Amino acid sequence: MSVVGTGSFFGSPEEERDKLLQSLMDQKKKVSKPEGIPLITLNDGHSIPQLGFGVFKVDPAEAERIVSEALEVGYRHIDTAAIYGNEEGVGRAIAKSGIPREELFITTKLWNDRHLDVEAAFEESLAKLGLEYVDLYLLHWPAPANDNYAAAWKAMEKLGDRARSIGVCNFLPEHLEKLLAAADVVPTINQIELHPALQQREAVEASQAAGIAIESWGPLGQGKYDLSAEAPIAAAAEHHGKTPAQVVIRWHLQNGTIVFPKTVTASRMAENLDVFDFLLSNEEMDAITALERNARGGAHPNDLN
Ligand SMILES: NC(=O)c1ccc[n+]([C@@H]2O[C@H](COP(=O)([O-])OP(=O)(O)OC[C@H]3O[C@@H](n4cnc5c(N)ncnc54)[C@H](OP(=O)(O)O)[C@@H]3O)[C@@H](O)[C@H]2O)c1
Repeated sequence: MSVVGTGSFFGSPEEERDKLLQSLMDQKKKVSKPEGIPLITLNDGHSIPQLGFGVFKVDPAEAERIVSEALEVGYRHIDTAAIYGNEEGVGRAIAKSGIPREELFITTKLWNDRHLDVEAAFEESLAKLGLEYVDLYLLHWPAPANDNYAAAWKAMEKLGDRARSIGVCNFLPEHLEKLLAAADVVPTINQIELHPALQQREAVEASQAAGIAIESWGPLGQGKYDLSAEAPIAAAAEHHGKTPAQVVIRWHLQNGTIVFPKTVTASRMAENLDVFDFLLSNEEMDAITALERNARGGAHPNDLN
């Protein structure tokens, strides 16, 4: 079931936003019920849970335990990558969970040194995960100095059903334009650094204009700035009796963004899922949006090659 489309993000008409908010509130389940997490329909017809669990910097030796805890708490969407080195632990947690495969949404990513070796890199990821397919395979960075991302994309298009959906990460409008000129398949997703202090409006708008849904990485700013020190976030947290992290996750969800905060802390796993019993007002949303200050915490997409 889809409750949110890949509609506009910034400057959407009030009516659109009210409809979106109402549909999110209709989902109103307290915590940890996977069926309480909205699904977004991608441009290839597949659905993705809007809230998931990221595992960047999760120690490979700890990944099985941490992902097992996340699945236990109620997450069903896991975002990993070959470069994280923890696909095997993620795979063991999935196998041990006993959760039917079709109830899970698993993403992994192609690293930059495999742009000309996609099929083999993909097989390695599947083997490490112990899966017959992934729900989403992402091209991790454009690495424009190497200029192989369009070729990598053409190879990803040929992976067939073992990569149910394919997409990209860290694509700026210029990278998207070049990729789309060569592509037969439009990416389903563009996963970009996105949080209140860095909102990448040009990348969001170029993606959405092409029907590409936005995933946020670093949704909580990766802990690089103190969310509780941001006045509109602190005020909304106080008003709703929620934490700053919950307010920011809610801001992403109400914007229609797909989000998967990472935590190795069990209490935070539950906290980050407990975001379906309150609604930020338009004023609160706008005040958080006004925190934009181009504060990139990670690499610039043109600099990581
Ligand atoms: N495509 C890409 O290039 C790319 C790049 C980076 C990330 N990603 C993906 O995006 C996911 C999320 O981004 P991220 O992990 O970089 O950053 P993030 O989710 O914004 O932040 C993670 C940090 O926030 C802390 N945290 C989590 N929940 C919290 C809460 N409720 N209250 C206070 N602090 C909290 C975590 O601490 P503890 O763990 O200590 O609890 C950790 O230090 C990644 O895990 C990965 O899957 C993709």
